[in-house]
Amino acid sequence: MPKNEKTYITNANFMLHGGDYNPDQWLDRPDILADDIKLMQLSHTNTFSVGIFAWSALEPEEGVYNFEWLDKIFEDIYRIGGRVILATPSGARPAWMSQKYPEVLRVNAARVKQLHGGRHNHCFTSPVYREKTQTINGLLAERYGGHPALLMWHISNEYGGDCHCDLCQNAFREWVKVKYNHDLKAVNDAWWGPFWSHTYSDWSQIESPSPNGESMVHGLNLDWRRFVTDQTIDFFENEIVPLKKITPDVPITTNFMADTFDLIPFQGLDYSKFAKHVDVVSWDAYPAWHNDWESTADLAMKVGFINDLYRSLKQQPFLTMEMTPSAVNWHQVNKAKRPGMHLLSAMQMVAHGSDSVLYFQWRKSRGSSEKFHGAVVDHDNSPENRVFQEVAKVGVTLEKLADVVGTNRPSDVAILYDWDSNWAINDAQGFGLESKRYPQTLQQHYRTFWEKDIPVDVITKDQDFSKYKLLIVPMLYLMSEDTISQLKTYAAEGGTLVMTYISGLVNEHDLTYLGGWHKDLQEIFGIKPVETDTLYPKDRNAVMFRQKSYELKDYATVIEVNGANVEGVYEDDFYANTPALTSHSYGQGKAYYIGGRLEDDFQRDFYQELIDELVLESASDVKHGRGVSVQARHASEKDYLFLMNFTEQSQPVSLGSAVTDALTGEQLTGDLLLEKYEVRIVEKQK
Ligand code: GLA
Ligand code: ZN
Repeated sequence: MPKNEKTYITNANFMLHGGDYNPDQWLDRPDILADDIKLMQLSHTNTFSVGIFAWSALEPEEGVYNFEWLDKIFEDIYRIGGRVILATPSGARPAWMSQKYPEVLRVNAARVKQLHGGRHNHCFTSPVYREKTQTINGLLAERYGGHPALLMWHISNEYGGDCHCDLCQNAFREWVKVKYNHDLKAVNDAWWGPFWSHTYSDWSQIESPSPNGESMVHGLNLDWRRFVTDQTIDFFENEIVPLKKITPDVPITTNFMADTFDLIPFQGLDYSKFAKHVDVVSWDAYPAWHNDWESTADLAMKVGFINDLYRSLKQQPFLTMEMTPSAVNWHQVNKAKRPGMHLLSAMQMVAHGSDSVLYFQWRKSRGSSEKFHGAVVDHDNSPENRVFQEVAKVGVTLEKLADVVGTNRPSDVAILYDWDSNWAINDAQGFGLESKRYPQTLQQHYRTFWEKDIPVDVITKDQDFSKYKLLIVPMLYLMSEDTISQLKTYAAEGGTLVMTYISGLVNEHDLTYLGGWHKDLQEIFGIKPVETDTLYPKDRNAVMFRQKSYELKDYATVIEVNGANVEGVYEDDFYANTPALTSHSYGQGKAYYIGGRLEDDFQRDFYQELIDELVLESASDVKHGRGVSVQARHASEKDYLFLMNFTEQSQPVSLGSAVTDALTGEQLTGDLLLEKYEVRIVEKQK
């Protein structure tokens, strides 16, 4: 996409503010529903995700439908100028369905059929469930497809998990047959069959992995996870058939997830594949702000990382489909957001490319497990309380940011993340059980750029590498021949490539490369990693780089150099004074290999050289200390800069060139003091 072209991902040219709204829980309280309409306006919310778990309200008995309540909700919301994100209800089923058609219930990995209840637990293969979802989705599309309040489709909710029923086992076998061209020997070869006598003599013997570790077949585990992604997408595709037909112009999304504490990508599904099937990426962000194990700035860095991954999946703005205005109800400790944190955390999402701030949920439930989950409207039903006021403030702020909608964040730096590799390395028995931390390692490399306000795309292997000046590939354990050749082209054509320890060890079947490292990697990097040493948690080594010593822990690769320059050496152990960091000119480009896991200061100093050499620009000329982050979104005539203080102290920032406060219109120059958790949004003319 050209640098400043706008992409309106939802057809709306305003920032969406609102979230999950569950009027179906309040149908016998018209007084509450009437209050909602008033409170929606007072909270400056404009968009409501409706019907997410409303199947039993929409189809109380099989084939008996009740849409009247939803008609009224659409009308009421539209009357106040609001919009609806309409959900398909497949995230949870009515009891009549589970009772009459038990095949819709999921079977767990121990092959135990689950009872009715909970949610997100249907069989994704069941023909009955597929038919039922298509029917209800078609009726929703017919009834509301032409409604002017309809903004987009929210398909199901947080797809995830797997099903091990007979239907799914059969589907898996068919998937394997197709993948391996109906050649059982090819399957046995790919899965290293003879190991522990796992060779199959008939297709019917193939089964999903069990929780007791009976299989231990890494190739099978990996293919099962790929199948789960494909089958979930297939279920999703089945859901959207009537929507694509009846409402071809209404964008479709489904809400993705992330690990809440480490803010690493959701492990259950390969979102790089899923993203190709949605029109808009959206995700649910629940960082544990104010926790007792890391600084606010450390957490903010991780939030930046995951946003940059989900934005990069489609290289366009994304939506924050859920966040909490205060606390959640499912963390170990459910701490309230401190005053100011809500605005700051909401603006951080926007700064990284979100065109919305949507919550779970809009009105707090009265009963069941989420009755204490933070919401815009609390049980007090009052616009006066602190959380409501903070939400309204976010709303007022977003109203001033309509020009930001659709703008992107171009970047010269990319970090590569890969779901296949993540699954495979987690399966790998070897290295350190607790210390692999693959996605966390990506965050470690991301940190330097975040601290320096240099925009980063976190990309996946299916994307175009060539537009980046710098491509960082930490711990890419699994690399197919295709990925290797992509990297080769990237470096040969002038890219700067950085790779680390535990990279390129296995192919796409999780089979190791023979002959040491893959020959192309040896050629690109001018080295051959010959041993990976894993350190105990308390062990330390160090690397000497440019006359400075940097602490090493967890991993050290012993490297044989074949043409590369040695940039740093280990200080200790049997590989003392041997290469730890190398560089190698390859084609028009350059390739660096970092052999050990090093402290943050190393990344800061090492990447600073590349930042200077490759002229990697910061988002702005604003200067500040640690814990402040400046992120930019670029409109055609101006940049929107988000100046964010993720510390508990006030922080001076020096503005560089003159800017205008985007909210007040005030001209600003010189120095500015950001209070604790303060965010300022300023415009800078180009
Ligand atoms: C998830 C779900 C919501 C709700 C929230 C609570 O993101 O999608 O339905 O349960 O968590 O935080
Ligand atoms: Zn199933």
